[in-house]
Amino acid sequence: MTDDLLTRIKVMGAVPRHIAIIMDGNGRWARERALPRPLGHRAGMKSVREAVEGAIEAGVEVLTLFAFSEENWQRPPSEISALMDLLEEYIAQEIEELRGEGVSVRVLGDRGRLTASARAAVERVERDTTTGSQLSLNLCISYSSRAEITRAAKLLAEEVLAGALSLDGIDEDAISARLLTAPWGDPDLLIRTSGEHRVSNFLLWQLAYTELYVTQTLWPDFTRATLYEAILDYQRRERRFGKVPV
Ligand code: FPP
Repeated sequence: MTDDLLTRIKVMGAVPRHIAIIMDGNGRWARERALPRPLGHRAGMKSVREAVEGAIEAGVEVLTLFAFSEENWQRPPSEISALMDLLEEYIAQEIEELRGEGVSVRVLGDRGRLTASARAAVERVERDTTTGSQLSLNLCISYSSRAEITRAAKLLAEEVLAGALSLDGIDEDAISARLLTAPWGDPDLLIRTSGEHRVSNFLLWQLAYTELYVTQTLWPDFTRATLYEAILDYQRRERRFGKVPV
């Protein structure tokens, strides 16, 4: 069944170059099983592997995952600490495989708020995977899109004040170039799991013309087949970027 979906993707042609995912529903998955929430997050780790491997097999170039928002710092300390531990565990467990598969990992967000050991793990995975050319994997951690846009505005203001940039030099490209996602461009497809129709302060600027796909699947139940269904749905759409069909 999964292979069949992959074959259909290849027959359809162009795959989305950049896919972003809001991984949601770990808490509900745990609640349905009367388990503590952190066990839902732990179950979600294997779905991250499914998404990465599925993206590679489908020929996606960039995968941007929303793992932890700035707002998530308001969760109970025990859940935050479980998530930080999981991040370290994910990196320790996957680093060799990611390197072997040619995945280059970057972490986007305010890493200053991470624990020292989580920050060290993040720096290690970035350093050790830098040559990967099969897939760029961006993990958004302690990330907020409004904070990212505010930072870009400050950078531009500083450059204008320093005389390095004129006011006319501030255009859409100048803003995009100062966002954390600048090297990878805008997503073609955004997937959100668990049925919520929200963007939750994720890639607000970058999603201007992104196709949205919402699945009821809770993140721990997400497999590469779920990813392939989303890609097939995307391939059936006509993207117009605000223009009329030709
Ligand atoms: C949203 O579910 C999920 C998160 C806040 C954490 C995402 C973390 C993982 C998938 C595991 C670790 C991943 C990496 C990359 C280390 P929720 O808790 O908001 O679910 P709910 O809406 O059902 O309560």
